[in-house]
Amino acid sequence: MAMFQLDMNATFKILKILEKSKLKSEEVFTKIPGVVMIISGEGRVLKGNSFLSEILGCYSDELHTKSLADILIEENYKLFFKNLETTTDTVGGKNFETKLTIAGDSSLKIYSWDVSFLTSFQDRSVDTYLAVGRDITDVRIIQEKLVDANKNLEEKVRQRTVDLENAMNELKNLQGTMVSNARMASLGEMAGNMAHEINNPLTIIKHSGKSIKKSLLKKKFSDERVEKFLVRIDQTVDRMAAIIANLKGFSRDASNDPHTTVTIQEIVEESVFLIREKMTSVGINLEVDIEKVKNEPLVCSKVPLTQVIVNILTNAYDFIKNLDNKWIKITVEKTDEVFIFSIIDSGEGIPFENRDRIFEPFFTTKELGDGQGLGLSIAVGIVEKQHNGSLEVDGDCENTKFVMKIPRDLEGAS
Ligand SMILES: Nc1ncnc2c1ncn2[C@@H]1O[C@H](COP(=O)(O)OP(=O)(O)OP(=O)(O)O)[C@@H](O)[C@H]1O
Ligand SMILES: [Mg+2]
Repeated sequence: MAMFQLDMNATFKILKILEKSKLKSEEVFTKIPGVVMIISGEGRVLKGNSFLSEILGCYSDELHTKSLADILIEENYKLFFKNLETTTDTVGGKNFETKLTIAGDSSLKIYSWDVSFLTSFQDRSVDTYLAVGRDITDVRIIQEKLVDANKNLEEKVRQRTVDLENAMNELKNLQGTMVSNARMASLGEMAGNMAHEINNPLTIIKHSGKSIKKSLLKKKFSDERVEKFLVRIDQTVDRMAAIIANLKGFSRDASNDPHTTVTIQEIVEESVFLIREKMTSVGINLEVDIEKVKNEPLVCSKVPLTQVIVNILTNAYDFIKNLDNKWIKITVEKTDEVFIFSIIDSGEGIPFENRDRIFEPFFTTKELGDGQGLGLSIAVGIVEKQHNGSLEVDGDCENTKFVMKIPRDLEGAS
C-alpha cells in the first residue's frame, strides 16, 4: 500500500511538472510577437496564436476551421505551399516572404515567414509545420525609400558631374579666349613699342633722303656722300623690316613651334629689341650682360621664349616706370646643365605672400583693367612645358629678380 502511495505521489508530481511546462510553452506560443501557427501539409490550421486570430478576424476556437487560403492572397498561397513542400529538414527550416491582407484592413502587409517541419505534433500520419511570421512591411517601406533615395542621389551626383564637366569646359574655353586676348593685348602693347621703334628709323630715312635731295639741288655731292646716305637708308629699312617681322611672329600662335637652335645673344637681343625704345622713353637704364655666353647655342622655341622675356621685361617696366631710380639688368650665365637668365629691376621685390601666387592665372596687383594677370602664367607655361625649365622669383635679392633656367640639353624637354 505504501508502495502504491509512493507511485501515486510520483505520478502526481510528474503530471504537475508536465502541466507546468505545457502552460509555459502555451505562454511562449501566445506571447511571441508575431503569427505562430501549426499547419498541416494541406495548409489546414491545426493551432494558432492570438496574432493569427487577429489577422483572420476570428476567435481562437474557430482557428481550426481556417486554412492558408484564408490568410494569404492567391499567388502567395502557392508560394507558401511551394516552400512547405521543400521544408523537410527539421533542423534548418525555410525563410521566405509573402504578402497578406489582415481582416478589417485593406492594405497589403509583407510578412517574413520561418517555417520548419514538425515530427512530433499530434497525428504522426499527417505532415505538420510550425510557421512563425513577422510583419516586415515598415522595414520594406523604409528599404524601398532608401533605395529610391539612393537612386535620386546617384542621379543628382550624375547630373552634378555633367554640370561640373560643362562648367569646366566653359572655363577652359574662357581661359583659352582670355589667353588669346592676353596675347592680343600684348600684341597691342608691342604695336605701341613698334611705334617708338619705327619712329626713329623713319626720322633717319627722312633725314638721309633730305640730305641727298639737298646735295642734288646744290649740285654739290660726291659719290661717297650719297652712298653713305643710301647705305644708312638701306640699313634702316632692314631694321624696320626686322621689327615688322617680329611683330608678325608675336601675332600668331607659336605654342606648338618646334625647337630651333639660336644663340643666347639672338634670343636676348630680339627680346630687348622689342622694348628698348619704350624703356628709354621713360628713362629706364637697361643693361645687358651676356658677354661670356653670347655665342652659346640655345635650343628653344624662339618666339615663345622671346615672349617670356618680353613679358618679364614689360612687368619690370610697368612696376618701375614711376620710380626715381629706374634700371633693369639682364644677365645670362651657364652651368653644366642649364642657362640661367636673370632679369633684375630696381623695384623692391615681390612681397613674400605673393611669391607663389604671381604665377597663377588671373593674379594681378595692377589696378582693375590695367592687367589681366596672365603674363607670368603664360610665361611659366612656356618655360616649363615647352622647355622643361623653371621660372622663379629670387626672394633673397633686395630688388625684384626673376630667374629662368633652361636646360642646355633639351633632349628631355617636352
Ligand atoms: N617686376 C615686377 N615687380 C613687381 N611686381 C611684379 C613684377 N612682375 C610681376 N609682378 C607681380 O606679379 C603679378 C602678376 O604678373 P603678371 O604678368 O602675371 O600679370 P600682370 O602684369 O598683373 O597682368 P598682365 O601681364 O596680364 O598685364 C603682377 O600683378 C605683380 O603683382
Ligand atoms: Mg604682366
